[in-house]
Amino acid sequence: MRIVFIGPPGSGKGTQAQQLKEHLGIVHLSTGEVLRDVQRDGSDLGRQAAQYMAAGKLVPDEMVLNIVVERIAQPDCVAGCLFDGFPRTVAQAKALDEMLAERGTPLDLVLSLELPEEKLKGRLLRRGRGDDNQATIDERFRHYYDLTEPVLDYYRSRGRLCSIDGDGTAEEVFARIRTIVDAANGSHRS
Ligand code: AP5
Repeated sequence: MRIVFIGPPGSGKGTQAQQLKEHLGIVHLSTGEVLRDVQRDGSDLGRQAAQYMAAGKLVPDEMVLNIVVERIAQPDCVAGCLFDGFPRTVAQAKALDEMLAERGTPLDLVLSLELPEEKLKGRLLRRGRGDDNQATIDERFRHYYDLTEPVLDYYRSRGRLCSIDGDGTAEEVFARIRTIVDAANGSHRS
């Protein structure tokens, strides 16, 4: 299966994708994690990415698309992939559709995690990752509303969007996701 997790910063995309990875046994591709790894390798690309991320801005589409196109060509992605934090712009969503169409493996589900901004900001400030300070969090939300919310409309208009109540414990949210994914997986196999 190919599943996109989309949602504002702190909505639980990484937490839920990790659990679903274990449930389905397929690859978890977090563009945020890959970009943090690239930063750590000290390359020019890593330094460029670090500047965008530290400022709470999205890194350019081209950089992210290069990462994704390379990763999904790996043999372990044949069985499926969980896209976490990608796509984040309509251009990325269209490019993903094209990449998957070329392989004859379209997206099965787009899961949108939804919960109020105040709760999300509280979670991020408690976590305290490098980009979890008040100014950067505000900027990440601004980019989410400007650039990523239109991606929800893109998928909604194509009948692929499933809204998930992201409030509750990680286990409660995962139970909601599992119900939807297992139903889709059943119809996918039949
Ligand atoms: P990324 O790493 O994707 O960050 P994000 O979208 O801001 O998401 P987070 O990792 O903050 O939150 P999450 O939704 O994964 O929640 P999590 O499970 O971690 O991207 C970072 C940066 O990389 C971007 O700002 C951008 O610069 C760049 N980037 C990445 N992808 C890009 C792309 N496609 N295009 C361009 N740029 C890109 O949970 C958050 C916290 O809440 C954790 O502490 C967790 O333990 C806790 N938590 C989770 N679920 C629950 C729950 N149910 N109850 C209580 N606490 C919970």
